[in-house]
Amino acid sequence: MHFTINGERHEAAPDIRASLLDVLREHLQLTGTKKGCDHGQCGACTVLVNGRRINSCLTLAVMHQDDEIVTIEGLGTPDALHPLQAAFVSHDGFQCGYCTPGQICSAVGMMDEASKGWPSHVSDDLDGDVVLADGEIAERMSGNLCRCSAYPNIRDAIRQVWEGAK
Ligand code: FES
Ligand code: FES
Repeated sequence: MHFTINGERHEAAPDIRASLLDVLREHLQLTGTKKGCDHGQCGACTVLVNGRRINSCLTLAVMHQDDEIVTIEGLGTPDALHPLQAAFVSHDGFQCGYCTPGQICSAVGMMDEASKGWPSHVSDDLDGDVVLADGEIAERMSGNLCRCSAYPNIRDAIRQVWEGAK
């Protein structure tokens, strides 16, 4: 199989039934994407596929050979952090850090959805600009669990980047 991940071409020969998460981690050594539940419940495995966030544990790798996949390794480097990575550091948006790659990939996708004006389940206004208040961020990020419960700081980091981008 062939994949385009973080702008680079990759080849792998996994079992045809392999999940995208297992191919990333076990065949391509892109271990920034984490396996938490392996059942679509925790969000630790979140990556971006064609700009949309998905749980990579719930999708077959073979389905994504013509897609643009972005993992946490493609968002920034230690010397040039993505704005969300920098905000997570400055707001202390993690403790153990296991959920953090998924949180950041999910936040990138979430802000793209919000910038397009897509309402969420808790949006008051279905047509107007999205206001990323605490409840709105919490709802939109509800697929990403944090066992360390760094939620308030994660929300602050996301809000800072969202407001800085406007
Ligand atoms: Fe995919 Fe938990 S590992 S949602
Ligand atoms: Fe530990 Fe989120 S920082 S699970």
